[in-house]
Amino acid sequence: MFETLSATPPDAIVGMIKIAAADTNPKKIDLGVGIYQDKVGATPVMRAVKEAEKRLLREEDSKKYIGIHGNPAFNSLFSKLIFGANSEAITSGRLATAQAAGGSGALRLGAELIKLANPAATIWVSTPTWANHQPLIGSTGLRIKQYPYYNKETQRIDFDDMCAELRDNAKVGDAVLLHGCCHNPTGADLSESQWQTIADLMLEKNLLPFVDLAYAGLGDGLAQDSYGLRLLAGIFPELVLAASCSKNFGLYKERVGLVGALCATPDDAKLAHGQIGLTMRRMISMPPDHGAALVAKILADPALTADWKTELEDMRVRMTGLRASLGEALLVQGAEQMAAAITAQKGMFSLLPVSQEQADKLRSEHSVFLLNSGRINIAGARTETIDRLADCILAVL
Ligand code: LMR
Repeated sequence: MFETLSATPPDAIVGMIKIAAADTNPKKIDLGVGIYQDKVGATPVMRAVKEAEKRLLREEDSKKYIGIHGNPAFNSLFSKLIFGANSEAITSGRLATAQAAGGSGALRLGAELIKLANPAATIWVSTPTWANHQPLIGSTGLRIKQYPYYNKETQRIDFDDMCAELRDNAKVGDAVLLHGCCHNPTGADLSESQWQTIADLMLEKNLLPFVDLAYAGLGDGLAQDSYGLRLLAGIFPELVLAASCSKNFGLYKERVGLVGALCATPDDAKLAHGQIGLTMRRMISMPPDHGAALVAKILADPALTADWKTELEDMRVRMTGLRASLGEALLVQGAEQMAAAITAQKGMFSLLPVSQEQADKLRSEHSVFLLNSGRINIAGARTETIDRLADCILAVL
């Protein structure tokens, strides 16, 4: 019967891993999938993670089941890190959490929860957004619509259009997916005043914030990268959070994430907690523990936490430095707008103003691997390849 299945198209992001790996040009620059790379192009296990693994190996005496909400220490410590330990979201008892299989698992659980509470809700996503947002959230059956976010030609956020679309067309109870920081794929983040404006608009229209926080610590720093989430959590009775430990703890393949539902009352939070657990049980029964146990070990130990924060900050600073160098190299050649945009954008990604044909050319003629959309992962560049990268980009434009 399986001959009846249709062939699957290559994945826009994961598919690029293989394509880039197959290129043997020593001058290859791989800016495809969103993984952090250090100055020699490696993605090492973070020091604090290695140390936590050693301790876990020594101390763990059982692999028995933990439960459908995953590792409770992880849920508590990671929530405190993200919302702030003394925040009202944490102290009020209004927050229901569960460990998820990566940020993606958290997005799926969050969307399922929204669907259970309000099957008529539409989820609004930015144009553009992470290539897997629509497939992942859409597979809940919820309706998805798009709001304008970024203009690839001007390389700026279309904030007025974003507000107008949501003001005119979103209906009460719809959810708005917002990238907490380091917008994927553009790197263009809302300013503090834009967060306030969008918060006011959503509050007035009774829209539910659904925050995807996958890059905390890699934009402006840990606390600053939670600015939008914390602002919303302070004023909205309800919101949904999907957070990831893939990038900031380098735990990609371990699949560690957190879904959170901030509810109007502690009683509502109990209901949400129950439904998240039930959904988890029906989908995968329970999330895997290894990565979450490592994060919990790090966050429970001040010395390990400090070391993790230092290494995370080094990663962030390296990427900011690469942005500045690429900006300078582009500026020398007169590409002022692109230079300014890339320098100011945050986190791993920027969206180059290139067509799919030009992206193809960058790959086939220059061995510069980026997504068809024009997305580059700046962490894949190196100081010694920056000038060549700027030359290649300008050569195809
Ligand atoms: C990316 O955007 O490159 C990462 O989040 C990896 C993925 O799963 O798409």
